[in-house]
Amino acid sequence: MRLTQLLLPILLSVSFATARPARATGPRVGPPRPSLPRIELPLEELPVTSRNGTQLPPYSYSYSFDQLIDHNNPSLGTFRQRYWHTYEFYEPGGPIILMTPGEVDASSYTSYLTNSTINGRIAQELNGSTVILEHRFFGSSNPYPDLSVKSFSVHTVQQAIDDLAYFAQNVQLPMPGGDQLAPGKAPWILVGGSYGGALVSYAMNNHPESFYAGYASSAVVQAIVDFWGYFEPIRQAMPANCSADIEAVIAHVDSVIASNDSTQINTLKSTFGLQGLSHNDDFAAALQENLFGWQDMQPDSGPGGDFYHFCDVLEVKNGVSAGPSGWGLDNALQAWGNYWKSSYYQQICGSDDVETCLGTYDATNPFWSYTFVDNAQRSWQWLLCNEFGFDFDGAPANQPTITSRLVTPAYWQRQCGYRFPGAFPTNTTSAIEVPNARGVNGAYQGWSTNTERLIFANGINDPWREATVAADGSPNTGSDTQPHLLADGFHCSDMLIREGAASSKIKRVQDTAVQHMQEWISEWVPTA
Ligand SMILES: *[C@@H]1O[C@H](CO)[C@@H](O)[C@H](O)[C@H]1NC(C)=O
Ligand SMILES: *[C@@H]1O[C@H](CO)[C@@H](O)[C@H](O)[C@H]1NC(C)=O
Ligand SMILES: *[C@@H]1O[C@H](CO)[C@@H](O)[C@H](O)[C@H]1NC(C)=O
Ligand SMILES: *[C@@H]1O[C@H](CO)[C@@H](O)[C@H](O)[C@H]1NC(C)=O
Ligand SMILES: *[C@@H]1O[C@H](CO)[C@@H](O)[C@H](O)[C@H]1NC(C)=O
Ligand SMILES: *[C@@H]1O[C@H](CO)[C@@H](O)[C@H](O)[C@H]1NC(C)=O
Repeated sequence: MRLTQLLLPILLSVSFATARPARATGPRVGPPRPSLPRIELPLEELPVTSRNGTQLPPYSYSYSFDQLIDHNNPSLGTFRQRYWHTYEFYEPGGPIILMTPGEVDASSYTSYLTNSTINGRIAQELNGSTVILEHRFFGSSNPYPDLSVKSFSVHTVQQAIDDLAYFAQNVQLPMPGGDQLAPGKAPWILVGGSYGGALVSYAMNNHPESFYAGYASSAVVQAIVDFWGYFEPIRQAMPANCSADIEAVIAHVDSVIASNDSTQINTLKSTFGLQGLSHNDDFAAALQENLFGWQDMQPDSGPGGDFYHFCDVLEVKNGVSAGPSGWGLDNALQAWGNYWKSSYYQQICGSDDVETCLGTYDATNPFWSYTFVDNAQRSWQWLLCNEFGFDFDGAPANQPTITSRLVTPAYWQRQCGYRFPGAFPTNTTSAIEVPNARGVNGAYQGWSTNTERLIFANGINDPWREATVAADGSPNTGSDTQPHLLADGFHCSDMLIREGAASSKIKRVQDTAVQHMQEWISEWVPTA
């Protein structure tokens, strides 16, 4: 199952996670979240030394901040929000560099305190201090002890934005002079990638008094319900033979299903060993799984990734690679099907039966109602169902597509009703309007934000690119005070210094970003 990330053993942070089923079986997790890449840091437990030789706690040491449960009603009190911090590179006058890694347990992301990331690189060059703040309702930072619909009344993008600002205004960082570093007394830089990158843009827009400058990588600023564009950068950048063959198979799948011929449909499903899956759109959606490997790639990840393995399965026949137009439908269909039967099903579903692993229509499956905390998928789905959409759909009829057109907003939004009964209808057969999608774009300006001293960095190969300012449809081309930097990376590649070593274009983005920050911070004047 693809449900949980493997967490590094973090010795010093305390976990408040409550008991949960040994393994959350149930419909496959669904599409990947737009998470930041996680980097392993073998030295994470080693002591850290400040500029003047003081020994500091290890990066993995977690602190706790008393955060407001509800920014609209402070009388509801506070909850403990985890954060991580170091002042390894800090000198008086330097900036405070804050990031939330977004929709994850943040304890696995403390490497973003270090100079292996853009955060630490800015700190090192500008004498700054780095801070990682866990997002509410992820990991151990929970306003309430469960992830029920009732608890989620305070799980909104606006509350997350307000968390960042309230933290900056009120935290007393555990460092010399830490009570004299509020915005106005020290310059605060907000950094983030992916959804966390969107929060950089939103929070700077919403709380200009708190955040002086920002760096937003692969920032999915524009909420889009019918997000077929996720597959466009993949289709455009993948090997031509592989996309030609995938398009041929998908066109065949859609036409067989549209025929209503149950014998033919069953034969088609059997080709993949998926005849046990009763709903045709579940079958069509299952074929998306092979494309999600793209999101895990980085410029330095080499040819061994899942995605290229999948293309080799389709394109290499008896040791010979197909030309640009592929081997054609018959070969691709058999090869793709055999791959599922021989190993892929086992890889993603283990010993689960097909309906349990890939079916989404059993509303009584307890999977939908697991409300234990630290269930990142559930907390993320709430934001999708309410505010972003980001439904991974087939392309419109006039566009080439590498994923079935049977997968529509209605397919995903039906599942909102199963997960969050009461909050969404469970019986809908047509797409419901994601309540706030337009609100998010209106409130924080999506693609069109005019926030200054904000860097947007993007990767041409990022599958989330169509929700960023680097989207084909984005009207915003940037400015001197809002630089848009584009390189040949994937998702959030420019946040990792090692990807700059793999790509000179990414290195340029990183160097340019540090230069902008240097210039802006040199112009900063205290206001408090
Ligand atoms: C990054 O920081 C470490 C100390 O944490 C230091 O040893 C190393 O030289 C730094 N790397 C660069 C490229 O400056
Ligand atoms: C960083 O601190 C050192 C030592 O105080 C100082 O010489 C240097 O100018 C500072 N750099 C910046 C960018 O402020
Ligand atoms: C440097 O060391 C002095 C003690 O010698 C201490 O007062 C000061 O807070 C330290 N500064 C930093 C940034 O570690
Ligand atoms: C298949 O069934 C659907 C729904 O009953 C119907 O709208 C459609 O026209 C049918 N298609 C064919 C090719 O018979
Ligand atoms: C064809 O497929 C092979 C195997 O996946 C790949 O290495 C090659 O780059 C592809 N060639 C073209 C022109 O798409
Ligand atoms: C779905 O449920 C709502 C609320 O229970 C009801 O008003 C509506 O008629 C139902 N729609 C269908 C198609 O059953």
